Amino acid sequence: MRQAGRHFLQIPGPTNVPDRVLRAMDMPTIDHRGPEFGALGLRVIDGLRSIAKCSGPVFIYPASGSGAWEAALANTLSPGDHVLMYETGHFASLWKAIAERLGLDPEFIQSDWRAGVNPAAIEARLTDDKSHSIKAVCVVHNETSTGCASKIDEVRKAIDSANHPALLMVDTISSLGSIDYRQDEWGVDVTIGGSQKGLMLPPGLSFNAVSEKALAASQSATLPRSFWSWSEMAGPNQKGFFPYTPSTNLLYGLAEAVDMLHEEGLDNAFARHERHGEATRRAVQAWGLDVFCAEPRHYSSTVTTVMMPEGHSGDAFRAVVRDTFNMSLGNGLSKLADRVFRIGHLGDFNDLMLAGTLSGVELGLEVAGVPHEKGGVSAALAYLAEEAAKARRSSAE
Ligand SMILES: Cc1ncc(COP(=O)(O)O)c(C=O)c1O
Repeated sequence: MRQAGRHFLQIPGPTNVPDRVLRAMDMPTIDHRGPEFGALGLRVIDGLRSIAKCSGPVFIYPASGSGAWEAALANTLSPGDHVLMYETGHFASLWKAIAERLGLDPEFIQSDWRAGVNPAAIEARLTDDKSHSIKAVCVVHNETSTGCASKIDEVRKAIDSANHPALLMVDTISSLGSIDYRQDEWGVDVTIGGSQKGLMLPPGLSFNAVSEKALAASQSATLPRSFWSWSEMAGPNQKGFFPYTPSTNLLYGLAEAVDMLHEEGLDNAFARHERHGEATRRAVQAWGLDVFCAEPRHYSSTVTTVMMPEGHSGDAFRAVVRDTFNMSLGNGLSKLADRVFRIGHLGDFNDLMLAGTLSGVELGLEVAGVPHEKGGVSAALAYLAEEAAKARRSSAE
């Protein structure tokens, strides 16, 4: 049976694509080697620089985020290279698996997934690596499976304190445009980004933003690369073109999404996400449930992973919410399968959409017979009202 009304897509990406972005893509596809295209290409490359806060090249792929993971490794490293990765959760584990399949030698700093990166562990490992056998440190900024966000500036400091020359690669797939990120200032060598989360686009685009140091490493790195090769991209990109057929209509959408983020102001977008993360956690706490992330400094402002009470299935709960209230929530991934559900609160999202989302969760808990306290939505609304009143007072001053 058709479910009336707009579906609530509250998985932590892909996110709701705003109408403005949909309209921007609803255009004839143009000749990607013709005169009009170059301006679009230059505009989106520059636009991504302004979001990642970087000044170097940005290579955009017609691929999902996993492609940009592979591109980052394949362009900068050689077979057998030792890389230091940090087990923040499911996505960090997938990235490590790619490194293994490419013939690299990843070392995983293990964790229980309940916090972000511990920079002291990175510093200790790098300090031990006197021969500088570690060629890169790879971390996930916002671990979408757990709802823990790492402090990338602290990772940078850890590498500097160990006085280690390793490249720093950061996956920003579920943080860019939603959580503060500064590639140049934090000395990140390769930023990995994707279209379908904070950038408010459909899936299908990903990119690498690259430092001079990473570009230099790519000159001597010997892992085979073809489709992902930065050097194939660099020439045509100078004039906004690509070595193969780009996702023209997604690029129209990207140009619009970048404009939208700047119209709001990046800092305002970050503050909005923080507010929604906090409101969501207040609801979870009032329901008497537990947030999976156990380190408050690492709470994610884009996704909240909620633990199911013992003996209750996260997947059965999500099915009730989907079938009864027309809302998709995120599932638990790998070792968290069925033990948690995830609430995505990122992208083109406002207070009332969050209120609807949390209402759907609270209704679902009731209908699915999951033990909980009442009042989660009220707790979130009280916080949102307080914050809105504060913002009005400060704009009146
Ligand atoms: C943090 C993070 N990294 C990487 C990926 C993989 O991206 P994709 O599924 O677009 O290949 C995801 C997907 O959700 C993600 O959340």
